[in-house]
Amino acid sequence: MLNWIEKRTGFVSMTKDFLTEDVPGGASYWYVFGSATLFAMIVQIVTGIFLTFFYAPSADTAWESTRAIYLNPFTHFLLSVHYWGASAMIALVFLHLLQVLIWGAYKSPRELQWVVGVLLLLVTLVLGLTGYLLPWDMDAYFASQVSLNITGLAPIAGPILQNIAQGGGTMGTATINRFFGLHVWLMPAALVGLVGAHLAIFRHNGSAGPVVDDPRKLKVGRFWPDQMFMDAAVSFLVFVVIIFLTLFFPPFLDAKADPTNSQFVPYPAWYFLSLFGLLGLVPPSLSIGPIPLPMELIATIIVPTVFLVVVLAIPWLDRSTTRSFSSRKGILWGTTIMVIVIVILSVYAQVTTMAKQAAAPPSPSQATVLAMSETSTTSTSTTAGGGAAPSGGAPSAGSANGAKVFSTNCASCHGAQGQGSPGAFPPLANNPVVTGDANKVIGILVDGLHGSISVAGQTYNGQMPAWKGTLSNGDIADVITYIRTALGNNKASAVTQAQVNAYKP
Ligand code: HEC
Repeated sequence: MLNWIEKRTGFVSMTKDFLTEDVPGGASYWYVFGSATLFAMIVQIVTGIFLTFFYAPSADTAWESTRAIYLNPFTHFLLSVHYWGASAMIALVFLHLLQVLIWGAYKSPRELQWVVGVLLLLVTLVLGLTGYLLPWDMDAYFASQVSLNITGLAPIAGPILQNIAQGGGTMGTATINRFFGLHVWLMPAALVGLVGAHLAIFRHNGSAGPVVDDPRKLKVGRFWPDQMFMDAAVSFLVFVVIIFLTLFFPPFLDAKADPTNSQFVPYPAWYFLSLFGLLGLVPPSLSIGPIPLPMELIATIIVPTVFLVVVLAIPWLDRSTTRSFSSRKGILWGTTIMVIVIVILSVYAQVTTMAKQAAAPPSPSQATVLAMSETSTTSTSTTAGGGAAPSGGAPSAGSANGAKVFSTNCASCHGAQGQGSPGAFPPLANNPVVTGDANKVIGILVDGLHGSISVAGQTYNGQMPAWKGTLSNGDIADVITYIRTALGNNKASAVTQAQVNAYKP
């Protein structure tokens, strides 16, 4: 049988060739980063392909289909593995690169392998960036807006590139389509091609082996079975870590992208934190004498580009003839300092983002987000299976009903715009109680309210009727959503019928 296949394909001898490859100095756990990265890439390709079965790229369906993915345990698992697989892949690429850097494995004749490797890192980062937009939730929208605006800053080609990536002057369905095309076709194709080149060059030069004065003295090991076992063991460990994170720390879906929300604080993926930190650190304007410096451009485009060019040129910048650590002090120090700077910038960005988030209005809880638009999708009943649920036009049935319930039951006391009347009925517009804890508002509606309260410096001591029995739980949920989102500057999470059903005093 094997003979039959070998005669027609040559596969058997090819595999033997591959497995008996020399490993200078014998197998080592130091060599596993490349294969572990490859493994993470395969996880991403497999989960990514299946996710396209459920995702619908357009402004009206991207968030809705992502929400459907979250609501089904099987697809939610798939998405979470893809999410953590991305982080694993990027972390492993960085570790792999760092190890090659420290060992000087980029030195002649492996310069091109290094260059292809750095390009692979770039493609991986673009994959992370484009994937970030696809859920089309608040963070996806506003974080991608930051990166698109940065693209637009680039001299000459910037505005054109931004227009192409964005698919027009503003972000919308065209943007999702561009990012989707990049994320599922162009970048994966580039990735697979570059990985092929990377491995072909690797096979051509063989493995670099440990840092020794005279590599000829090294005993030579074989790829099979020792190195193969170590590679497989570490890939398995990576898999276990991804599954652990998937099960215990699944990703979070924000509310659907709302371009009018000016208070949302976007946060980048962890691997872009250092760039984000750099942007946050530079003063908005600085000048040498009368010449103003384009600080934003420097922080977002010039510094990263110079950094990239230097990294690409490392095999030529490192002039030492041997790979020994003592002859490569400059590169080793440079690497150490860069790693420290990147970590400090990332921590700085994380801390400042968290402080801004704490100051901004709180985001709705995950349960609220996933329950959102349930009223609108059930009332239009266009949901087909677990797939995309088109959300109809802008004002959902729920909010239209909320406005109706308000004008028939509440406006007589609280005013048509929720402005209240001083001393008698408290305003509901710009009232922190209304936009605060949803459960408390549910309680006020269900059981009524009396006793002295104070709103915007005015005291009220009246009687708010209980609405339990008068209004259905669905109407109570809709009217609360209405007063929390449509009066004055009120902007708070929606309330669902499920939350009202679940309310206990
Ligand atoms: C008969 C007049 C009346 C009607 C009708 C009425 N309310 Fe009230 N509402 C009041 C009064 C009076 C208070 C203040 C109670 C107090 O002083 O303790 C109040 C308080 C509230 C509060 C709490 C405000 C705060 O700062 O604590 C909310 C929320 C509220 N009403 C919502 C509604 C909604 C929604 C409706 C319609 C379903 C409605 N009310 C209908 C009279 C009314």
